[in-house]
Amino acid sequence: MSQQDKLWGGRFAEATDQFVETFTASVSFDRRLYRHDIRGSQAHARMLVEVGVLSAEDGRLIQEGLEAILADIEAGRFEWRVDLEDVHMNIEARLTARIGDAGKRLHTGRSRNDQVATATRLYLRDAVDDLGRELRRLMQGLVDLAEREHATIMPGFTHLQTAQPITFGHHLLAWFEMLWRDHERLRDTRHRLNRLPLGAAALAGTSYPIDRELTARLLGFEGICENSLDAVSDRDFAIEFCAAASLIMMHLSRFSEELVLWASMQFRFIDLPDRFCTGSSIMPQKKNPDVPELVRGKTGRVYGHLMALLTLMKAQPLAYNKDNQEDKEPLFDTVDTVGGSLRAFADMVVHLQPQRERMRQAALDGYATATDLADYLVRKGTPFRDAHEIVGQAVRAGIEQGVDLSQMPLAQLQSFSAQIEDDVFAVLSLEGSVAQRAHRGGTAPQQVLRAVAQARQRLLSLND
Ligand code: ARG
Repeated sequence: MSQQDKLWGGRFAEATDQFVETFTASVSFDRRLYRHDIRGSQAHARMLVEVGVLSAEDGRLIQEGLEAILADIEAGRFEWRVDLEDVHMNIEARLTARIGDAGKRLHTGRSRNDQVATATRLYLRDAVDDLGRELRRLMQGLVDLAEREHATIMPGFTHLQTAQPITFGHHLLAWFEMLWRDHERLRDTRHRLNRLPLGAAALAGTSYPIDRELTARLLGFEGICENSLDAVSDRDFAIEFCAAASLIMMHLSRFSEELVLWASMQFRFIDLPDRFCTGSSIMPQKKNPDVPELVRGKTGRVYGHLMALLTLMKAQPLAYNKDNQEDKEPLFDTVDTVGGSLRAFADMVVHLQPQRERMRQAALDGYATATDLADYLVRKGTPFRDAHEIVGQAVRAGIEQGVDLSQMPLAQLQSFSAQIEDDVFAVLSLEGSVAQRAHRGGTAPQQVLRAVAQARQRLLSLND
């Protein structure tokens, strides 16, 4: 196309280099913003009519023209042109082709710099809301499972060595807490991104008598960006979002790692539903935990996007620079990756099948109640350090004979300490051990049920 067809062609004597045109264009990826770009334009046009910069008739033509373009795009009837560079100029050019001069007046009092910042914020606000819903679905699944498994006993680990018995419900609620913080972080990010850049125009504001508060209200923004230079150049919101997304992925990767371990033949703590796994083309016995593995792997790519955006913004002088066009792909891919990962987990978690007998046996095998025996001796008057030593000797004897502490005859236990009496078996049992940790935040089944009820309340509070 000739330079005269470009929306900014007036100043140019020579056509854009073909390769440069493609190289600098963003429409291949930023067309994803079309709905938000149109919404932003409609609000801008309405405001311009309200303040008397546009006639009511031009305003009407613009609204209708944009609606028609929206319908065309959604129906796949819109022809995206690389020579028009980005989503914004594609839509504006199409509008002018449809409605004539009124279309050319839409860009009054704004610039693509505040336009793109507005569309990106609107897009991300919707994405954050969608992700929040998926997070809630996953949390809900965990809480339901925790309630069912509130009394299921498993070994708790430190250093991946059996440490103390815990309840599976308690373990599930640890994941709930991580995701709850993620949800809080998303809400916090949403609050800060929910401000209107429009009105900043290219960088310095505009000479038209615009009403930014009105545009902000029309778009559901909580306020306006206070400084025009900052409004067009700020991408903190994208970075914050990718940071929150990185934490979500970090949590999902830990969750994934445990599922991969637990589904292995060595642990056999859980069965993953077949439809979340795949087989091997050579080893017929295999059932691979693909979904958790893939989510664990995708975590790295989201961290990468965070780093890309931080580096993109590093040392950029005010105000808008073309560099900022590079914010889109990392941002979009982060939204897609986190969205897909959360969705797969929310779908999968409700189908986890705990192997209760295996879990229980693993807790028994690992001398998980050794601390309980030490605490028992302390209650009988033995100083803790001595109790620790005594129990260590008992465990060594147990390992040599291949028996658990709870399986030793009383007389043998008494050979380690005369303070041991037959009430010791109550604390050496797995059930006795978990039941004693009955304070808030502890692993006792009763506490798990209390925590489940509280988690349900917290989830309900999000439904407004
Ligand atoms: N495609 C650009 C972006 O994504 C839109 C803004 C361009 N502004 C400019 N003056 N070149 O950032």
